[in-house]
Amino acid sequence: MERTFLMVKPDGVQRNLIGEIVSRFEKKGFQLVGAKLMMIDQGLAEKHYQEHKDKPFFNELVDFITSGPVFAMVWEGNNVISVARSMMGKTNPQEAASGTVRGDYGLSVGMNIIHGSDSLESAKREIALFFNETELIDYKKEINRWI
Ligand code: PPS
Repeated sequence: MERTFLMVKPDGVQRNLIGEIVSRFEKKGFQLVGAKLMMIDQGLAEKHYQEHKDKPFFNELVDFITSGPVFAMVWEGNNVISVARSMMGKTNPQEAASGTVRGDYGLSVGMNIIHGSDSLESAKREIALFFNETELIDYKKEINRWI
């Protein structure tokens, strides 16, 4: 079963959107296998965003993601990586469709509420960066027969 890393960013936590975001992914039919409220330090932020280290907005990105608590999650389900990205909406909330998290709640590209892995490779890398194996719970739900 595919897994992805999703994270409510500091703006989403401050705006009380954790419950709303978790609810959307639960109702879609995905299963939460790990979650925690945490602070990201400079080192973890730089590793997480390493592919953007040469971008002009890199420092802004690191400053933002370390500025307050984030809610880190691992979700499981069929095609969860690409479906979660669709549910998040485009990176720039001004271009994100209504009905997506960013389209419904975001206004600027710098503060766009949620992060989600963009490929199987980044999902594996990001899950391992944020979670130990013991923090990920493998369990069965009867409802999964109906999805
Ligand atoms: S790129 O250039 O296409 O690879 O970048 P993109 O995938 O669109 O965005 C990568 C992450 O950087 C954030 N971002 C920005 N932050 C601040 N300022 C600007 N201008 C900016 N542009 C992009 C964007 O929200 C992405 O964050 P994550 O957490 O990966 O969604």
